[in-house]
Amino acid sequence: MNLVSGRVRSVMATLEARDAADRTDGTPQELRLRAIRPEVGQMLVTLIVAMGARTIVEVGTSSGYSTLYLASGARRTGGRVVTYEVDPAKVELAGGSFADAGVDDIVELRHADGVAGLASIAGRADLVFLDAEKGDYLGALGPAIEALRPGGLLVADNLISHEADLAGFREAALSDTRLVGLVVPIGRGELVAARL
Ligand SMILES: C[S@@+](CC[C@H](N)C(=O)[O-])C[C@H]1O[C@@H](n2cnc3c(N)ncnc32)[C@H](O)[C@@H]1O
Repeated sequence: MNLVSGRVRSVMATLEARDAADRTDGTPQELRLRAIRPEVGQMLVTLIVAMGARTIVEVGTSSGYSTLYLASGARRTGGRVVTYEVDPAKVELAGGSFADAGVDDIVELRHADGVAGLASIAGRADLVFLDAEKGDYLGALGPAIEALRPGGLLVADNLISHEADLAGFREAALSDTRLVGLVVPIGRGELVAARL
């Protein structure tokens, strides 16, 4: 069972096709969807269910593809997802994704800087998923840790695909005394770290 409904799966399939085309047709970086790999989405659903995560925060919505996985987990736990996106065109696209998928009752889409948004959560988040610009990761680490409750999880994408760019973030996260975690070699490389 993967907990992704047929209606959500149908929207995901459309976004997967567009993301695949973006990666080969010369679409400029800022317009590409840059979605997570499906196995990473399934890992997120599994973690949410295992933890009973109900307060879920995402930084970097893009089309809403990863959010649809987070929402599929949240549907099971009775939770909610707050997702942050700075690009107005992506906000519009994601809003359509959530309406089409029927998850807008449990997803709150905020057109705002997610790093600043994390600061307002103060120890209440069960899971933070970080998938913004790689230059933002190091600055997001402290706010993400402070947003998590003890036992809450930080998951961050692209630790292997952007190994050099994220070396400082990886070192800072894995050596932070408030976290215990590792980089899991699935998808593009996922940092998974629990708040102590
Ligand atoms: C890699 S894409 C996210 C992909 C998405 N998580 C998915 O898997 O479908 C990164 C997105 O983060 C957005 N972004 C970058 N910095 C941000 C920030 N500080 N707060 C919120 N969104 C941000 C970008 O506009 C872009 O749409």
